[in-house]
Amino acid sequence: MSRASLQGLLPLQDLLHPASGERVPLPPVLRHLYGELRLARPSRRPYVLANFASTLDGVVAVDGSTSGGSEVSGFNDHDRMVMGLLRSVSEVIVVGAGTLRSVPRHLWSPKGFFPALDPAFQEVRASLGLPPSPRLVFVSARGEVDLDLPVFRTGTREISVFTTPSGRARLSERELPPGVDLWVAGEGPRLRPSSILRGLQRRARVRTVLVEGGPSLFGDFLEAGLVDELFVTLAPFVAGRDAAHRDRGLVEGHRFSPPTSLGASLVGLQRGGSHLFLRYRFPARR
Ligand SMILES: NC(=O)c1ccc[n+]([C@@H]2O[C@H](COP(=O)([O-])OP(=O)(O)OC[C@H]3O[C@@H](n4cnc5c(N)ncnc54)[C@H](OP(=O)(O)O)[C@@H]3O)[C@@H](O)[C@H]2O)c1
Repeated sequence: MSRASLQGLLPLQDLLHPASGERVPLPPVLRHLYGELRLARPSRRPYVLANFASTLDGVVAVDGSTSGGSEVSGFNDHDRMVMGLLRSVSEVIVVGAGTLRSVPRHLWSPKGFFPALDPAFQEVRASLGLPPSPRLVFVSARGEVDLDLPVFRTGTREISVFTTPSGRARLSERELPPGVDLWVAGEGPRLRPSSILRGLQRRARVRTVLVEGGPSLFGDFLEAGLVDELFVTLAPFVAGRDAAHRDRGLVEGHRFSPPTSLGASLVGLQRGGSHLFLRYRFPARR
């Protein structure tokens, strides 16, 4: 894997950005590289952002489910910066258990992903009054979560595993690492995104939630009308498909084909070389 570097990293070319929303105070280096970031602050429920990297033909995970967004983006430095920035403005990051299983060494932190930008990401969090790391929420119906993975062993992260009663029974067979708790949010077989958001709100005031996928969890949030904005890194690669490879698209488990397709408005567009950074807003449904 290449190491993210500021050297030679040009600012994203800003072709369209949202005019509404509160401006997030960015330190000069992020202001220079990313431009202006505005975020809505609705009061009724947390504002839900989602972030994916996709190939030109809509593939987000190659080779079944063993690769993450970094591979799909070609380990692109702008993509890492955008991902770090979105993590920096979020109180909570929500991740499906399949994604956790696919990148078992990942830590889901604004830190470490682009080390040269760590101080800037921390400055963003401090200016928003947020703790150094977002709470991490893993969602697993079956409780099929390996609590020995590095992310559970930092000793400093606040992590919740949202699961079902049977998932809790499975996970309770062993002691939870410090900082990790279980939250039962439904009977199963799947958890409703609204229950996940309600569970989060019951614990603390949460304004911005970042759903980092994968495609199954994201599909559930979309279907529930609970995605406000989607940030997509469109990577200039064609993955292709054949009968032997079941590469995942942006959404798994739901179809929004015409005439019921979900429409979104393009509210942001940036270019970094041949990568495009798209920002779509979904109309309020719930
Ligand atoms: N390109 C990108 O930007 C990007 C982003 C994210 C992920 N990915 C990739 O996508 C692949 C994984 O795809 P995936 O569809 O398996 O991802 P996923 O949504 O992360 O995982 C599916 C699993 O998560 C749990 N889950 C999801 N929604 C749930 C719900 N509503 N209620 C209860 N449990 C729920 C279930 O876990 P249990 O089976 O434990 O019950 C389910 O089997 C990986 O390769 C990953 O790296 C790519």
